Amino acid sequence: VSLKPYNTFGIEANARYWVEINAEDDLQTLLQLTDYTGFPKLILGGGSNLLLTRSFDGLVVKISIQGIDVIREDDRHVYVKAGAGVNWHELVMYSVNHGFAGLENLSLIPGTVGAAPMQNIGAYGVEIEQVFDSLTAVHMPTGETRTFTHADCGFGYRESVFKRECKGQYIITSVTFRLDKQPTFHTSYGAIQETLSDMGVDENSLSIKAVSDAVIKIRRSKLPDPAEIGNAGSFFKNPEIPKTQFENLKEQYPAMPGYPIGDTTVKLPAGWLIEQAGWKGYREGDAGVHARQALVLVNYGNATGDQILSLAHRVQASVAEKFGVSITPEVNVI
Ligand code: EPU
Repeated sequence: VSLKPYNTFGIEANARYWVEINAEDDLQTLLQLTDYTGFPKLILGGGSNLLLTRSFDGLVVKISIQGIDVIREDDRHVYVKAGAGVNWHELVMYSVNHGFAGLENLSLIPGTVGAAPMQNIGAYGVEIEQVFDSLTAVHMPTGETRTFTHADCGFGYRESVFKRECKGQYIITSVTFRLDKQPTFHTSYGAIQETLSDMGVDENSLSIKAVSDAVIKIRRSKLPDPAEIGNAGSFFKNPEIPKTQFENLKEQYPAMPGYPIGDTTVKLPAGWLIEQAGWKGYREGDAGVHARQALVLVNYGNATGDQILSLAHRVQASVAEKFGVSITPEVNVI
């Protein structure tokens, strides 16, 4: 089975076996079958955070479980449960249209609901852990369904227990979000303020719809649409370095941006480092560094996973050489 349609990088790679799951029951049935015991399994949502570098000699399980339901509410909150296969942006639009606040800053992120908690997706000042209530997941070795609370997930920056201790062990089947009836707006991010002001939105006309529209506008202006140019969003994480190292770098590169994380750590925008190292807009065959956002690697058509990975390695090496800072991939490299 060709996986090209199932990864947003648009990389050609084959899988030995492939199955699409529409209900949790079917997942349990699948896990009881002995036919695939011993084969590695690759769980796919929207395939938007994935770089395939080889054929997959095992079973690919595409999770397509649907459904969006309000399961309970109180004075301040609405609890919305969504199937793991629901398209992320579709859930955001559902919430915005119903006046449920909390997801609007996360508009237009590619991928599915089930993949979102794995890497604690975030954008424009909000991460999903801020609206996360709980999730259900099936334990692959036993087929048992387990509920994970917020604390169980061990969220961090683009991190969760599913990328660490529980890696490869669970298949997320649904996620419940705790959304607000009264919005708290997250508009401190510079680009959001500028875009809202360009849209003619002021304090009185501010709404979750306006924030969502602004985010959509910003993302469309800098991030390539995977339907047109293959990509997996930010390829690297923004590195965190000691404050003392940042101060030294700042003497050499006074324009270097940095965001303090606590008192001793500074987070650097990897896009800036990559751009300064001269890679922005670089292209070699069909592999490239996006011209409007250097943190995004792109496939212009027929790049192989190895070509993208080799480009990524060279970008990492050159950033390390120029700044002494190591950047690590955010995407899952298979
Ligand atoms: N910058 C450059 N050149 C570039 C790109 C960025 O100089 O080519 C500098 C600018 O100084 C800019 C700063 O980097 O002000 C931040 O850029 P941007 O707002 O585009 O955000 P980012 O740090 O590059 C992160 C997330 C994105 C998320 C945006 C907005 C990570 C790894 N990436 O990118 O998430 O949309 O912030 O909040 O944290 C993703 O994870 O796939 C993703 C797209």
